[in-house]
Amino acid sequence: MKYGYFDDANREYVITRPDTPLPWINYLGVDVYCGLMSNTAGGYSFYRDAAQRRLLRYRYNNVPSDRPGRYIYLRDNKTEDYWSASWQPTNKDLKKYKYECRHGLSYTKIKAEYAGIESETSYFVPVGEANEIWRIKVKNKTNRPRKLSLFTYVEFCLWDAMNDMTDYQYNLNIGKTEFKNNAMYHMTLYNMHKSNFAYFWSDKKVASYDGVRQDFVGPYRSEGNPIAVEKGKCSNKLAVGWAPFGGLQINVSLKPKEEKEVTFVLGYCDSMGEEEKIFAKYSKKGAVDAAMQELAKYWENNLNKYQAKTPDKNINSMVNIWNQYQCMTTFNWSRSASYYEAGGERGMGFRDSNQDTLGFAHQIPSKVRSRLVDIASVQFPEGRAHHGYSPLTKKGSREGYGDDHLWLVQAVHNYIRESGDMNFLNEHVPFNDGTKAKMYEHLQKAIQYSWDNVGWNGLPKAGFADWNDCLNLSGPKGMGVSVMIACQFVLGANLLSELAEKSGRVLDVDKYKEMAVEMKKRINEKCWDCEWYMRAFDDNGNAVGTSKSKEGKIWLESNTWAILSGVAEGDRAITTLNSIKKNLYTKYGIVLFQPAFTEYHPELGYVSVFPAGLKENAAIFCHTNPWAMCAEAMMGRGEQAFEYWETIAPAANNDISQIHWTEPYVYSQMIAGRDHKDFGQAKNSWLTGTAAWNFVAASQYILGIRPDFDGLVIDPCVPKKWKGFSVKRVWRGVTYNITVKNPDGVNKGVAELKVDGKIIAGNKAPAFKDNKEHSVEVLMGK
Ligand code: GLC
Repeated sequence: MKYGYFDDANREYVITRPDTPLPWINYLGVDVYCGLMSNTAGGYSFYRDAAQRRLLRYRYNNVPSDRPGRYIYLRDNKTEDYWSASWQPTNKDLKKYKYECRHGLSYTKIKAEYAGIESETSYFVPVGEANEIWRIKVKNKTNRPRKLSLFTYVEFCLWDAMNDMTDYQYNLNIGKTEFKNNAMYHMTLYNMHKSNFAYFWSDKKVASYDGVRQDFVGPYRSEGNPIAVEKGKCSNKLAVGWAPFGGLQINVSLKPKEEKEVTFVLGYCDSMGEEEKIFAKYSKKGAVDAAMQELAKYWENNLNKYQAKTPDKNINSMVNIWNQYQCMTTFNWSRSASYYEAGGERGMGFRDSNQDTLGFAHQIPSKVRSRLVDIASVQFPEGRAHHGYSPLTKKGSREGYGDDHLWLVQAVHNYIRESGDMNFLNEHVPFNDGTKAKMYEHLQKAIQYSWDNVGWNGLPKAGFADWNDCLNLSGPKGMGVSVMIACQFVLGANLLSELAEKSGRVLDVDKYKEMAVEMKKRINEKCWDCEWYMRAFDDNGNAVGTSKSKEGKIWLESNTWAILSGVAEGDRAITTLNSIKKNLYTKYGIVLFQPAFTEYHPELGYVSVFPAGLKENAAIFCHTNPWAMCAEAMMGRGEQAFEYWETIAPAANNDISQIHWTEPYVYSQMIAGRDHKDFGQAKNSWLTGTAAWNFVAASQYILGIRPDFDGLVIDPCVPKKWKGFSVKRVWRGVTYNITVKNPDGVNKGVAELKVDGKIIAGNKAPAFKDNKEHSVEVLMGK
C-alpha cells in the first residue's frame, strides 16, 4: 500500500494521508540549526548539539506517539470548533479533514482543509540563520465571513536534553519565560550564562499568550484538547519554574475567499538584541519567500555536483535527490538525533563520521576538510581513537574499538581525490592530548597501531568491536581478532602507500605496500573456509563464521571487505560473491549472516542477544548491502550489482510501505531479516552509514564516475539492457557532461573515450583547471 509519491520535478515526496505506519520525518536546517519534522508536525529542534542545546522538547516512546511538535491550532470563534493545521494533535476525522504533506529539501509544507478553511504551513530554517520559520497561509473557502484565532504550541526544552527528561527535583524550578517585542522569550538559565536564550515571535499582533505549559493545556488534558484553545483565550501568565511554553494567540478575520498569512519565528540567540534583527527582517513583506528561494538555490548548488539521467526512475530519484540529501543529513548530525536516537549523549561518531564523508565530499569539500580535522583531533598519539566526540566541546568519548582509526585513512584519501588538496597531508592537527602532528602522521599512526596490535594469526585485534558494534570479541586474553579489520588494514595500508607516492614521500611507498601484502597473505592463508572468508577469531582462538559453525556460518562483512580491499582476487573473489548470494540474499536485501543466533554466546557478545533477525543478529543491515554492490561492480557483474541496489532502494519499495514501514525516500539502518516474523519491516531511518555507502555504490561503482588524483575515472558497471545514460559531474570546479552509450549491451568495459571530441587512451577524463564545461563521450564495449 502507498502513502505517497515522488514529485521529482519539485524534489519533494508527497504524503497523501497523515496516518503513515510510523512518523515519516524530514530534517530542517542545513548547518548549525536542526529541526526534526514529522509529516504531522511532530519533532524538536536544537542548535549545534542535540544533547546540550535542545530548543524544543520531544517525548520519546510516548503514547500517543510523535508528540509534541510545532502545532498551530485553528479555532472558529463562532462555532468554537478547533483543529490543527497538521492533523496531529487534534486528529480530526479524515472523512472531514483533507491533508497533504510535502517533504522537500530542508523544508516541509503541510496543507489541510477543514470546515471550509484551507491552510498551508511551511516550515524551514533560512540558510545561515539559527531559527526556523513557520509560515501559515489561511484561506476562507466559504461565502461567509469567518472569525478565527490561531494558537501555537511551543514546548521549550530546558536545554540539557537528558536532564530535561530525568531530573525534575531540579529542573521544575529553573524554567523562565518573558513576553516582550511581540515574542515569548525562553530565558531558563540566562541569569547564569548571559547568553543562550530562545524566542518565539510572530509578525502579527499577539492577542494573548501562555508562558507556562500547564496554563495552556490545563490539568488532565493533552496537546489534543488544550484548555486555552477550547476557551479561545490564553491566560497571559509567565513561567517562574515549571514548563516554559510559547502559546501565542493571533486573531484572523477572513472575508469570503480571502487569504491571509501569519509568520512565526522560533530561534536561538546568544546575544540579547540580535534577535530583533530577525524580527525586523521577517516583518517585511516577501522576506519569507525570499528566504525559501535562497534555500532552494543552496540545494540546487549542492545537488548540481552529481546529476544523472538513467533508464531507471528509482535510481534517478535516489541519486539525484534523496540519497544525496540523506548524505548531507548524516554528515551534519552523524547518529546523534533521529526518531530512534534521543540525542541525549551520542554526539559525532568517529567511524560513522569518517564514512559519512564518503557520501558528502563531492557536495561541499571544504566542510569535509574541517570535519576531518575535528575527527583526527580525538585520535590518541599512539594511533587508536576515541569512538566519538561532542560537537559542542569537541571532546572525545569512549574508546577501545579495533576499527575506528582505520576509517580516517580512507576518508582522507577520498577527500584528497575529490578536492585535489594534497597539502592537507601537511596540515598540523592535534591529537587528543594537544600535541600536534601532520595529518599524514595521523594516518601513519593509525596504520601502525593496527600493525602492532595483533592477536591470533597475526590479525589486528578487534578490541571491544569492529564495524559491527555487537560482535564483542575481547575477553580476558585480549586476543580476539577481526577478519574485517584485517581487510580494512590491507586497504588502508595500500591507500597510505598511494598517498605517500603522490605526496613525494618515496621511502614510505614500499613500506606500506609490504605491510598490505603481508596482511593479505595472513588472511588468505588463515581465514579462507573453502567457499568464503571467516569472520573473526574469538578470544580463545576459535574461528567465527565457518562451515563448521552451528550458527553464524557465513558473514557479509568479511566477505565483502575481502573483495573491496583486494584481498580476494580472481576465482576466489567470484566464489565469495556466489556464496554471499546463495546464503545471504533475500527478497528484501542481504542479511548480515546466517543462520541467526538462537542462543546467547558470551564469547561473541551482544550480537547473540537480539532476537533472531533483528539488528546485528542477522537482520538486513542496510549499511553492508552497498559493500556487496561495490564488490559485484568491481568484478564486473552489473546485473547483480544493480539488483542488490534496487532491492533495498527506498524508492523501489514505495509500493510496499505497509510492510517496510519507514520513509520511502531515505534508507533505514535495518530491515528485519528472514528469521524474524516481521521480515521486511525497517527501523532506524535517516541517520545511518547506509546513505553514504549507497551513494558511493550507485554513483561511483554502478554509474562508475569516481574521482582519482589526476582525473575522473569513468568505469560503469550496469545492467546489459541499459542502452546508455548521462551524468553531469561538477568536479574541482569543472563541469563534465558525460554521455555513456552501451550499444552492445555489455555490463562493463570502456571501448572508447572521447573528451571534447578527441579520443584519449584509458578510461580517465583529465583533471582540468579551467572552471569550464567539457564533454565526455563514453562507448561501452569489450
Ligand atoms: C550502528 C552504528 C555504527 C555501527 C553499526 C553496526 O549503525 O552507528 O557505528 O558500525 O551500527 O554495528
